[in-house]
Amino acid sequence: MTKVLVIGSGGREHALAWRLAKSEGVEKVWVAPGNAGTGADSRLENLPITDIEALRDWALENKIDLTVVGPEAPLSKGVVNVFRAAGLLIFGPTKEAAQLESSKDFAKAFMKRHAIPTADYETFTDAKAAHDYVERKGAPIVIKADGLAAGKGVIVAMELAQAHEAIDQMLEGNAFGDAGARVVIEDFLTGEEASFIVMVDGNHILPMASSQDHKRLLDRDMGPNTGGMGAYSPAPIVTADIHDQVMREIIRPTVDGMAADGIPYTGFLYAGLMIDRNADGTASVKTLEFNCRMGDPETQPIMSRLSSSLVDLVQAAIDGRLDEVQAQWDKRVALGVVCAARGYPQKPEKGQLITTLPEDSESLHVFHAGTKATAEGTVTNGGRVLCVVGLGDDVRSAAEKAYEGVKAVHFDGMQYRTDIGYRAMK
Ligand code: AMP
Ligand code: GLY
Repeated sequence: MTKVLVIGSGGREHALAWRLAKSEGVEKVWVAPGNAGTGADSRLENLPITDIEALRDWALENKIDLTVVGPEAPLSKGVVNVFRAAGLLIFGPTKEAAQLESSKDFAKAFMKRHAIPTADYETFTDAKAAHDYVERKGAPIVIKADGLAAGKGVIVAMELAQAHEAIDQMLEGNAFGDAGARVVIEDFLTGEEASFIVMVDGNHILPMASSQDHKRLLDRDMGPNTGGMGAYSPAPIVTADIHDQVMREIIRPTVDGMAADGIPYTGFLYAGLMIDRNADGTASVKTLEFNCRMGDPETQPIMSRLSSSLVDLVQAAIDGRLDEVQAQWDKRVALGVVCAARGYPQKPEKGQLITTLPEDSESLHVFHAGTKATAEGTVTNGGRVLCVVGLGDDVRSAAEKAYEGVKAVHFDGMQYRTDIGYRAMK
């Protein structure tokens, strides 16, 4: 019987742990530190440890067979290096490989070196040089803080004034701390975005089902960027042709490039894509970003559709035999709507009592993110509080199901988008 540890506390980790616990042969799944949702599931147990060395010691003592890491922060701090050094089996990229996400400059230089399609760019530490560059380039233009900024370090400046302001904030105002001590300035791309997530074992690649998220806070993609307000799988924009093109032009060269650079990539790899259809039916696909993990909230609909044993897939990846396994998917569409706290993304309010939640069923799953169990009941404890996933035969019916669930969620200040999936309903 397999003992599994999942590191993280968000909706992505709830969905991963939930799916892992359903795999045959799994004795128990611990989630460190987890949330109220993972704490309430009888097949899961929360473990209140976040320190990497303490987690390693606990995993050794408790003879954990397999660890899966959800978020980028522990990956970029080297949790995989630390676990491997202790002889523990863990699925994720090393600290070095996680630079594909933890440094935009590393990722851009890597893509340039290996001819992986992405927007043209330059990197700056000097504010004056950055200001001069945007004056030369003109707007729209995109300013990105170099390091991890929880999805909030990107300013898509439609006007030059906004670009100058972003440079001042990142390089001089220290708005993102060390993450902004260096900025990447890149050309503005047009098209439709999709999330392309694969499992990698250093060499072989196993694609996950396609997905698309909604990064803006408000309906019709208005308002500030967030970590993601909703997502669905599959994404119709990723046709079989686009899928092949992405594998050929982006994913395969990335995995081969990392191996050639002496930093073999293992773990989930997420390419954020911009897909622009040309008049002749072909498409230009460019990489907006890499993430060294699964997406949140994309994981919630993706895991809702996975019908293969996730433990078997992870075990195959750790053994370097991803070429021998296949992932099977529920044919239905899964669509997740994020219920966020008042004030998200700038200053989310915490501590509101969640008074009602819908019942889970075969076509409705509630994944917790920023929630905490207290004596009074479950309270909000972060910006993105829950993700309600509905399954249906098409995007419309999956959305109907999800919104039925959302209507049954109550906490003071709850905000959510009412149009998740609209691009796929055209
Ligand atoms: P990133 O964290 O790099 O994916 O950027 C966050 C969001 O900013 C993306 O999901 C896009 O909506 C937008 N974005 C990033 N880079 C560009 C670009 N070069 N052109 C247009 N939009 C972009
Ligand atoms: N949903 C976007 C991300 O996980 O980065």
